[in-house]
This record gives sequence, structure tokens and C-alpha cells, in this order.
Amino acid sequence: MKKATHKSSAPILNKRTLEKDFSTLVPILKEGLRVLNVGCGAGAISKGIAKKVGKTGQVVGIDRNQALIEEGKVLFGGQRNLALIATELFAYEPVEKFDLIVSARVLQWLDNPQTALAKMKTWLKPNGQISILDYNHEALAWTPAPPKSMQIFYQAFLDWRSNLGLNNAIAEDLSSYFEKANFQQIEVIPANEIYNKGEALFLHKAGIWIDVAKVIGVKMMTEGFVTEALRLKAIAEHQHWIETEAEQMVMTLKEIRGTL
Ligand SMILES: C[S@@+](CC[C@H](N)C(=O)[O-])C[C@H]1O[C@@H](n2cnc3c(N)ncnc32)[C@H](O)[C@@H]1O
Repeated sequence: MKKATHKSSAPILNKRTLEKDFSTLVPILKEGLRVLNVGCGAGAISKGIAKKVGKTGQVVGIDRNQALIEEGKVLFGGQRNLALIATELFAYEPVEKFDLIVSARVLQWLDNPQTALAKMKTWLKPNGQISILDYNHEALAWTPAPPKSMQIFYQAFLDWRSNLGLNNAIAEDLSSYFEKANFQQIEVIPANEIYNKGEALFLHKAGIWIDVAKVIGVKMMTEGFVTEALRLKAIAEHQHWIETEAEQMVMTLKEIRGTL
């Protein structure tokens, strides 16, 4: 009988794992913790967290994208200590507080990250801990330089984000946001993603900018940040580049932790 296959709507997000894509978190995951993952996507990383906290622990993943949450229920529904909820974070009101709140690659998409941190702080138990993982998009490094078309597209992407009030270098500013929110015991942990030619996931990970150009690029085009011709050229030339010349891509990330 033919095995049913699941066609993912978010291949980059759904291929993520705790160990590969939020490895710095692993040492603080203890059995029995009640954990909230804010902006969990379909729950790929949350599933890994749920395994670490074991049967006596619980993980709640929230995301405003209902389709991703529904997909996560199909993909990860077998993980019994994992609950996935479709909700905007600013509308979320948990009935029970958390030992640990984590959020990976989400605050980069908010124009009010300070308000989000203040909101999350109210969901922590006494002695609770928060961990935010995010990017400095301004420090992205490709070796050798990618095609000019992708360089122009990438700068247009940063400009489009800035215009929306999003912080392109949020990884560098999170510790000051934490201080302002009055978190204690603040720690900054380097968490760069480094992808080298020849590694199993290299084409997939280096191809993230092709996905960005295909999806976000359409919005950028309608909002006048890029032309259709440049977007299509960047997609084609970058695809060729990652399959031929590309040696390495380094994405700069930091994990920032704090306690109540
Ligand atoms: C780049 S993805 C990261 C997903 C996952 N945390 C990971 O590291 O793979 C950002 C996610 O945050 C979610 N998100 C963004 N803003 C949100 C908000 N205000 N409330 C809830 N979810 C939000 C998006 O729907 C998306 O799934």
C-alpha cells in the first residue's frame, strides 16, 4: 500500500529541530518543566522541547498562523504533553503560568518587541525564566559573495523590514530590552547558524533566501521595494550560485535569557 505523505506548507520551519535550530536551549530543559513556546510555527522545535521535559512536563506552543497550528496538530499530535494553540500572542491569556517561556525567530517580526516581552513576563511563575533567540540580519555573511541580484534583493528586504518598524539587528538589542523589562540574571549566548557546502542541509538552508524572494518578495514588489524582474533574477541566480560556487552561509543569532 502506498504510504501517505504529508506535503509541508512551511518546509523550512517544519524541518527545524530543537537540537539543530535551538541547541543553546537544551541545557536548561529539565524534566517536569511547564514551557511556553511563543510563535512556535507548526511546533517542530516544541516537539523536541516536549521530549526533553518528559511526561511530567508540559509544552504549550502558540502561533497566530492557524494553518500552521492545524498542520502541527497532524504532524506532532502524537506528542501527548504538547498542546498547540492558534492565537495572536497579544491576545493570549494562559490559565496557568510557566516555568520557562521561549520564543525563537519571532520578535524580529514584531514592531513592538518591548511590549511583547512585558506581556510574556506576566505569564511567568515566580523564579520563571525567559529565553529569546533571534537574528542580526545585518550581519548575514555569505562566502563567496552571492550574485549581485541577490545582494540587491537582500538590501531591499532589509529596507522593507525597516519600513515596517522591524529591527534588523534585534539580536544586538535584546539584552537592553531585557534590562528595560527589568529581567534579572541576563545572559547573552552566541547561537550562530553556520552552513557549509557538502553538509546535508546546505542547499536547503542556503535556499532560505529563495523562499523569501518567492513569498515575501511578492509583498515587497507590490509595496515598491523590488521589481518583478529583479526578484525573478535573484531567485534564478541565487539557485545557480548555491548549487555551484557557494561555500558557506553564516546567520548571526543570539539567545538572550533572563529571570523574573
Ligand atoms: C520565523 S517563524 C519562527 C517559527 C519557530 N519559532 C522557529 O524558530 O522555527 C515566526 C513565527 O512567529 C509567528 N508570529 C509572528 N508574530 C506573532 C504574533 N504576534 N503572535 C503569535 N505568533 C506570531 C509567525 O506566525 C511564525 O510562525
